[in-house]
Amino acid sequence: MIYAVIAAGGIGSRMGNMDKPKQYLMIKDKPIIVHTVEKFYVNSSFKKVLILCPDQWVNYTKEVLEKYLPKNEKVAVLKGGSTRNETIMNAVKYIEETDGLDDETIIVTHDAVRPFVSARIIEENIEAAIKFGATDTVIPATDTIVESQDGKVLSSIPDRSKLYQGQTPQSFKAKTLKELYYSLTEEEKNILTDACKIFSMKGYDVHMIDGEVHNIKITYPYDLRVAKALLDEEEK
Ligand code: CTP
Repeated sequence: MIYAVIAAGGIGSRMGNMDKPKQYLMIKDKPIIVHTVEKFYVNSSFKKVLILCPDQWVNYTKEVLEKYLPKNEKVAVLKGGSTRNETIMNAVKYIEETDGLDDETIIVTHDAVRPFVSARIIEENIEAAIKFGATDTVIPATDTIVESQDGKVLSSIPDRSKLYQGQTPQSFKAKTLKELYYSLTEEEKNILTDACKIFSMKGYDVHMIDGEVHNIKITYPYDLRVAKALLDEEEK
């Protein structure tokens, strides 16, 4: 069975002083999280769309979804975790408790604040996760990436042709992710903040899916303005 896991457990501190976390801010007629959930809701491959948000925002999230997605029997709102990986593991726990986990259980994990993910990206994530067990969505790096050990002096400039920017979805066989995650020490958990990194550090291949430039993550107030412009473009 295949599940969408929408990671909305963050508070959006880089967005600045807002009365609510950034995933609830409006882009035009709907909150960001609703734009995102809709992209997954319409794909019939998903048995459920799980939305994980901060504990104190669970009721609010349910209200928002009822308002904008009235027939939402496929949607479940759950409590997120203290880190993004913990949020994903809460989804895995829920799946295990409700339906059980087996080798065919796939999770397509996605940032709630990437509302422009395309149907093609979602479809390719599902196909590749079934075939390869772990996927990441990436685009080639456009800026030169500069590495510095101390934040003052440049230590290296890696070859840009081998660098990519990670987006989401990231999709996994949920049982393998669970086994790998719980085999990590607390120290490793602090380093392996990206779920794909857990797979690659443990020697698994992570298949890359072509992302899209407009699959942006809304992080700063500037991104909200870009998101509004992108939506205007889509509606033309
Ligand atoms: N996320 C999550 N659980 C956490 C932390 C983050 O599900 N404990 C989610 C966020 O809600 C977001 C996505 O992961 O949809 C990407 O993270 P980021 O953009 O860093 O979101 P925030 O942590 O909310 O932002 P900030 O770092 O500015 O506080």
